[in-house]
Amino acid sequence: MTVQIITIDGPSGSGKGTLAAKLAAYYQFHLLDSGALYRLLGLALHKQNLLDQLDTELSQCVAIATQLNIQFVTQPDGTQVLLDGEDVTQTIRTERVGEYASKVAAVPELRTALLARQHAFAQAPGLVADGRDMATSIFPNAQAKIYLTASAESRAQRRVKQLQGMGLDAKISDILANIQARDKRDMERTVAPLKPAEDAYIIDSSELNIDEVFALMTAYVDQKLAICRA
Ligand code: DC
Repeated sequence: MTVQIITIDGPSGSGKGTLAAKLAAYYQFHLLDSGALYRLLGLALHKQNLLDQLDTELSQCVAIATQLNIQFVTQPDGTQVLLDGEDVTQTIRTERVGEYASKVAAVPELRTALLARQHAFAQAPGLVADGRDMATSIFPNAQAKIYLTASAESRAQRRVKQLQGMGLDAKISDILANIQARDKRDMERTVAPLKPAEDAYIIDSSELNIDEVFALMTAYVDQKLAICRA
């Protein structure tokens, strides 16, 4: 049986995470939050004081990436994320860990070390894969490829709301600066830079709410999956 794959790539704060989860529930597909893998690896390397020594201690860092002990546990209100048995669901969503992830994500050997783990998510009946390079590098044969973007300002506003909803303090100017710095790093890195695949369906969500984006996505995906079944 062919595993149907829907990729959603785009910058942080574009709404990818929410929409990927909604699509996975709608199509009853598995869900890969690849950003969470980079965040978990960033946190693991930080805990071992290796984040500032990615160059000099690379083989040790690769070994940690390969052996990363993580679990994604489906709960009624979302996915619980465990690192070495510890619940880090909230911790990995902080700006601080986002910075760790961005550093880790710029190292080709560490990206390669996470490859097999990502491919293992592709199981019947299908997968929604959320990230930066899902269509361009990890699942180039995906049946449906979506690139979801939004202006840096609207993404910063959404992120502030999200953090406040989690009871965390957030200043819009800091968040905007972080988003712009991370975009630059993600787009300009030599390995797997953030960019739409040539055959991606590009959606700008700056002026759209979640339901509107979801409707655009399902219309596109239904059509793509029907073509595959025909
Ligand atoms: O989507 P996110 O904010 O959780 O991603 C965290 C970081 O990991 C971000 O800097 C981009 C990077 N990342 C990546 O390089 N490739 C992916 N497939 C997913 C995330």
